[in-house]
Amino acid sequence: MVRRAEALAAIMRSKRGIVIAGMHGKTTTSAMTAHVLREGGLHPCHYVGAEIPILGMNAHWDSRGEYFVAEGDESDGTIALFRPEHTLILNIEEEHLDFYADLDAIEKVFAQLITQTTGRVFYNLDDKNAARVCRSLAGAISYGFAAGADYRAIDIRLTAFASTFRVDHRGQDLGEAVLNVPGQHNVHNALGVIALASQLGVAFEKIAKSLAKFEHARRRFEIKYDSPRFLLVDDYGHHPTEIRATLKTARSVGRKRVLTMFQPHRYSRTKALQKEFGCAFDDADRVVVTDIYGSHEAPIPGVTGQIIADEIAGRGHRGVSYEPRLEWVQRTVGNMLESGDLVLSLGAGNIHEQLSALAADLVVAEKLKEGVGEGGEVRLYEPLSKHTTLRVGGPAQFWVEPRTEKAFAELIRFCRAENLPLFVMGRGSNLLIRDGGVRGVVVHPCGGDFDKIEINGAEITAGVGAKLKEVAYAGKAAGIGGMEWMEGIPGAIGGGLRMNAGAMGAQTFENVVRVRYLDADGEAHTKSRDELQVYYRNFPLLEKNFAVSAVFRGQRAPLEEIVRKLEASQEKRRTSQPAAKSAGCIFKNPDSCPAGKLVDELGLKNSRVGKARVSEVHGNFIVNDGGATAAEMLELIEKIKATALAKRGIELETEVQIVGEPG
Ligand code: EPU
Repeated sequence: MVRRAEALAAIMRSKRGIVIAGMHGKTTTSAMTAHVLREGGLHPCHYVGAEIPILGMNAHWDSRGEYFVAEGDESDGTIALFRPEHTLILNIEEEHLDFYADLDAIEKVFAQLITQTTGRVFYNLDDKNAARVCRSLAGAISYGFAAGADYRAIDIRLTAFASTFRVDHRGQDLGEAVLNVPGQHNVHNALGVIALASQLGVAFEKIAKSLAKFEHARRRFEIKYDSPRFLLVDDYGHHPTEIRATLKTARSVGRKRVLTMFQPHRYSRTKALQKEFGCAFDDADRVVVTDIYGSHEAPIPGVTGQIIADEIAGRGHRGVSYEPRLEWVQRTVGNMLESGDLVLSLGAGNIHEQLSALAADLVVAEKLKEGVGEGGEVRLYEPLSKHTTLRVGGPAQFWVEPRTEKAFAELIRFCRAENLPLFVMGRGSNLLIRDGGVRGVVVHPCGGDFDKIEINGAEITAGVGAKLKEVAYAGKAAGIGGMEWMEGIPGAIGGGLRMNAGAMGAQTFENVVRVRYLDADGEAHTKSRDELQVYYRNFPLLEKNFAVSAVFRGQRAPLEEIVRKLEASQEKRRTSQPAAKSAGCIFKNPDSCPAGKLVDELGLKNSRVGKARVSEVHGNFIVNDGGATAAEMLELIEKIKATALAKRGIELETEVQIVGEPG
């Protein structure tokens, strides 16, 4: 770093140097200066700290010009190496306390730069430290909003992505400036550039025209995604002052909520400015803080993102959380999304990658939303643990709830065209979803067409979203018996069909008359029972097709008989199966012996891995004692299988469907 600064300072000596210095905004302002001087015909050379599309490269040599614009780096004291003609001081604040002892030490370095400046010093009058250091300098030129500034912005209007203001130069109105980079802080930066360029002889009209054309550096309020429903913005802000300014800008954009993902930068800064960070997020509705991006620093014990989250919460902020795993920040924020949200990623490390990934998924989610229409629901990264009876499972990349057959068909076609995997999920009562969740679209047909139950004579038509239990009770209400066994199954019709679920010695397809389904092209078909191949706990047609509804047939029966059977079914479940969270029976019953009995005989009841435990009530149930992971469940399943094979020579086969990616 020092070498590079020495080389830069040496090169600059062959030109008339202009140094832009300050804690915040120096890259943008250096770029703005180089751009305005270039447009003003001065052919400046420049060196700025980021790729700025409008400048082409971040460093540029032009032998025709006299000036060299450079961004000075105060972080390691190397600004003291410059001997420029002009210096523009944006702000001076406590920062880089890994390098400096205190504010005094920082000010000394700025004072040295000022002493070495042969021409003019331009400074921000509204920044109290810059004003204190520069006010008494002979020939220094001030700018700002405050009365008394040599170049003063008045009639300032800040809009979503732009600002407009008039410039007053010691009582003379120079005219209007339009800035297409947002935020009040950028009005300050532009004023500094106006002051400097004016002094170098560029006409105000030229300056104003070029400022209007100026575009941001990357990662400075960079818009990653913009739709009427969502706005995703990335910003490099990592100091409390920058964060406050950026959040103020974000708030002024006029979206409903501002959700922020923040990655603290450097352990030393996090520790030194812990308190200041605590009050930097007042303008954010939600803040997810992840762990520190160390840059080149070694960790400091006890200094993590948690201390910032705690500090923010300690100040009374109600929407802050800590998510140490960077790759889960996207999931956490993505799952909070509601129409009208602005999402802001903040930090100088790699948090922007999370926002980019979110933006990419949001593009797909918005198309899915369009496909399912107003009534349907689309959510990103929905935790599937919320939708399984076992309460285990990572997130669905895209969670989609269509309400109509038409929307479901549309969805199938969209996934096919976009090459997106599609997985259908009902009540999640027979599912073990791995901790990494499910990639692609998880369809949950519910509500609307899918929850309907209709009675026609002794036939009951039910949508795939209806519960098996509800069919049993609809039967009871209409005096139709034969479906009482369904009372004992926690799942929905869709899952019941897919698995040919059963209880009390009965199984789903004993009652099925017809099934309506959509094929891989989204075309609807209706098939009667005799056209369908069905096996024990398996209905293969639904491996590649998607059930929409089914017609069940019972028989007229006296109410007392139906009630008696329903009660028997309830009683059987209550006395032989656990009430704890489970996915029903884990294993298929082998021919030789029911799996529950086998596990029982092997003495495996109550054996556990973490929070996954074999139920003491029924050996074929694994229960979640609270917070179990899929990995624990799978390890326990493997143990049981290995024991059954070793001790009894029986190969157990899982009945629950195991899906998704490892965590
Ligand atoms: N048994 C034991 N110890 C146990 C569990 C069971 O000795 O810990 C004995 C029972 O006493 C009985 C036999 O094993 O003699 C069979 O048990 P149960 O009657 O409970 O039936 P199951 O075969 O284990 C089946 C279904 C269940 C359904 C019940 C009730 C399968 C794999 N399981 O269980 O379905 O609820 O019948 O009708 O077909 C499911 O599909 O998820 C499910 C739980």
